[in-house]
Amino acid sequence: MMFFFRPTSKRRWLLLGCFIMVVVKTMLFVVHYYMEETARTRKHVPLRAGGEESPVQTLTSDSYVEWNEGDFPKPQRKRLIIYWSGVRGHKVPVQKTAVNHTQFWPFFYAGQPGECPVPCELSSDQSRAQEASAFVVHARPPDISNLPPIEHLAPWILQTNENPVYTPALYDSRIMSQFNLLISYRLDSDFPAPIYPIPELDTPIPFHKRQGGVLAIFSKCEPVRTEYMRQLMRYIQVDSYGACLKNKDGLIAMYGKINNRYVFKDHKLILSRYYKFSLVFMNQDCDYFIDDRLYHALTTGSVPVFMGTNKVDQYLPGNLKNAIIKVSDFRSPKELAAYLEYLSNNETAYNRYLEWKWKGIGDISNTTIGRWWRPRYPLFLPGMHVAGQGQATSRAQAGLLPTAHVRGLGPRGS
Ligand SMILES: *[C@@H]1O[C@H](CO)[C@@H](O)[C@H](O)[C@H]1NC(C)=O
Ligand SMILES: *[C@@H]1O[C@H](CO)[C@@H](O)[C@H](O)[C@H]1NC(C)=O
Ligand SMILES: *[C@@H]1O[C@H](CO)[C@@H](O)[C@H](O)[C@H]1NC(C)=O
Repeated sequence: MMFFFRPTSKRRWLLLGCFIMVVVKTMLFVVHYYMEETARTRKHVPLRAGGEESPVQTLTSDSYVEWNEGDFPKPQRKRLIIYWSGVRGHKVPVQKTAVNHTQFWPFFYAGQPGECPVPCELSSDQSRAQEASAFVVHARPPDISNLPPIEHLAPWILQTNENPVYTPALYDSRIMSQFNLLISYRLDSDFPAPIYPIPELDTPIPFHKRQGGVLAIFSKCEPVRTEYMRQLMRYIQVDSYGACLKNKDGLIAMYGKINNRYVFKDHKLILSRYYKFSLVFMNQDCDYFIDDRLYHALTTGSVPVFMGTNKVDQYLPGNLKNAIIKVSDFRSPKELAAYLEYLSNNETAYNRYLEWKWKGIGDISNTTIGRWWRPRYPLFLPGMHVAGQGQATSRAQAGLLPTAHVRGLGPRGS
């Protein structure tokens, strides 16, 4: 050992110098690695609890992980959700005191004081981005390139009520890959929010008082549904009030006004009460895509003749399960026409489709659509998965949590 430090040997000095350099380099490397690692794990905490007390979660995986209820302390501070984009060119009317969730566009609100187990606030004020726990962007704003600050850790939530055929952002992977969560009509979304309220039990007009047979009202003449209707019309009378194969007048146009009010829906609802059947043909056959036309037909007691997603049963919980006639159950328009003709002449068989009106909708508490219709907490973001009796959901308790299973959506950045 001693010779190592002998000052007389130049070569020994050189060796000692190298040794010291290696030690210093290793230390620098360790420090650097540690700092990098800290930065990397922070980058994968897509949730800001909002404030210096934020619990910093250490995620080691490169992808988002499933969070458990206990993983996150109950937030003490208010969650701020920023509705970042407009909706079809309009600024989102953020309403602090909505009456209830069904009434409020865009389908969520900040709740009445005390109603939500997590204190929360919804705002469209972009200048408060620093405080945000999450950002919401509508899939059809005028400019999807106007996205929340990329450096911000809070999750981005995409919202859509329209199907991909009419929403180009939904099939653009450059856009979709930046979002963490989805609010949409899909029942498998992180936050399902279909435009389909719970059908009402209004007493239908009795069978023998219904003069009308089959009602059709649609004006976007998508080729498949229009052709199907054309063929159906060869075998049974269909009264078409919309622009597609129109053969009846008398219904105001969708955006027509009387006394400065839009009255299309009111008139449509009155009209359809007198028809035994309504064609409820979705404008596209996209998974889970249904809209409020199903609600209109059910509520007015005009039995829906449905064309669209084969997942429609999930929208018909409890006693609603026998409430519609599906086009897909028939081999041809001719067969369907024959069946409708048969029901038109058999009150007993026909009324089976309306049994739910008398029986009630039944127990729907264990269904996704049921939780949307009757949320345990009419939350700022309803439609969540209820974890158990008397418990808030894990998502509700933690505010907004990323899941590993955001279908079709990957983590932001690379
Ligand atoms: C929501 O509020 C509207 C307007 O006050 C009311 O007509 C409707 O019945 C309410 N819906 C629910 C589910 O409470
Ligand atoms: C009418 O429908 C009921 C119930 O499906 C059935 O039992 C009955 O035979 C039908 N009547 C005729 C005339 O087809
Ligand atoms: C709810 O549904 C799930 C899965 O379909 C089932 O396992 C569970 O037992 C149901 N719970 C109740 C209370 O019906």
